[in-house]
Amino acid sequence: MTKFKKIAVLTSGGDAPGMNAAIRAVVRTAVYNKLEVIGIREGYKGMIEKLFTPLWSHDVSDIIQRGGTILKTARCKEFKSEEGRKTAYDNLRELNIDGVVVIGGDGSFTGARIFNEEYEIPFVGIPGTIDNDIYGTDYTIGYDTALNTVVEAVDKIRDTASAHTRMFFVEVMGAEAGFIALRSGIATGAEAIIIPETRNEGDKLSKLLDGGTRQNASNLVIVAEGDEEGGAYALAERYKKLYPDYEIRITVLGHLQRGGSPSAFDRVTASRLGYAAVEALMDDQKCVMVGIQSNKVSLTPFRKAVKLHKDVNRDLLYIQEVLSS
Ligand code: F6P
Repeated sequence: MTKFKKIAVLTSGGDAPGMNAAIRAVVRTAVYNKLEVIGIREGYKGMIEKLFTPLWSHDVSDIIQRGGTILKTARCKEFKSEEGRKTAYDNLRELNIDGVVVIGGDGSFTGARIFNEEYEIPFVGIPGTIDNDIYGTDYTIGYDTALNTVVEAVDKIRDTASAHTRMFFVEVMGAEAGFIALRSGIATGAEAIIIPETRNEGDKLSKLLDGGTRQNASNLVIVAEGDEEGGAYALAERYKKLYPDYEIRITVLGHLQRGGSPSAFDRVTASRLGYAAVEALMDDQKCVMVGIQSNKVSLTPFRKAVKLHKDVNRDLLYIQEVLSS
């Protein structure tokens, strides 16, 4: 018999489609194993301010298909301080919480790691962010949905770009990572992809345009917001000066990439990881993130998940270059 009687679950950092499916999986797995579940609202802020709510099976009905998070989310400064974490610990103790599942990104896991160095209540993480930039999992919850949203939007932009023979710089999310840009660029047949993981893609784009073959066609450039060459606006300004014959327009997709009903892939990933997180807690795991690597559930210590860099697939970069030539 597990020593666990009561666990808590929270969502933290930027929301991602599929977080609700993960909450549902955590609650249903816990209830199946006769555990009580407390939902913590608004991430770590709720842990400090006692925003607690019991969750039973029926509370998570009809949420698997919904975007956002029923528990709400926040980026919490207070949890970065010792006093904040002490208050959080006292509040968890008062409720007899035996373990916590944190659904979020690397900022959320950094908080969890520090907490677990100071206090014994075990935390297990589930990677939830559209950026897909977490080491220890091939896919984060929300990435696939965001990718499909971007592809749908960019296909529409291609129609109008093509009709007017225009060049578009489309900016997608990814503050420090180009996962969304790279895959969506390949899926939409973009002429160029500009991401933080590589240098000199601007030169490659110039080479393509200098060749003269793109003059009478539509041209799509997907730019990750975090690229060192600047976002879509900065790049478009540069290229307007360099190529005055091209008619250039800009679209920043922004937060629409974070919303919407999760894809089937994200729902299944969230269900697998929610189940795995509760199992990990019952197996006395602590300070680890559950992930999916080569289609198998894996555990990665928070220390590695937040410190090690996950690289984009370099083969895809090369393929994109070949296919856009
Ligand atoms: O981490 C997810 C993310 O959507 C990033 O891609 C983006 O840079 C950031 O969050 C935006 O954060 P906020 O919603 O706080 O503006």
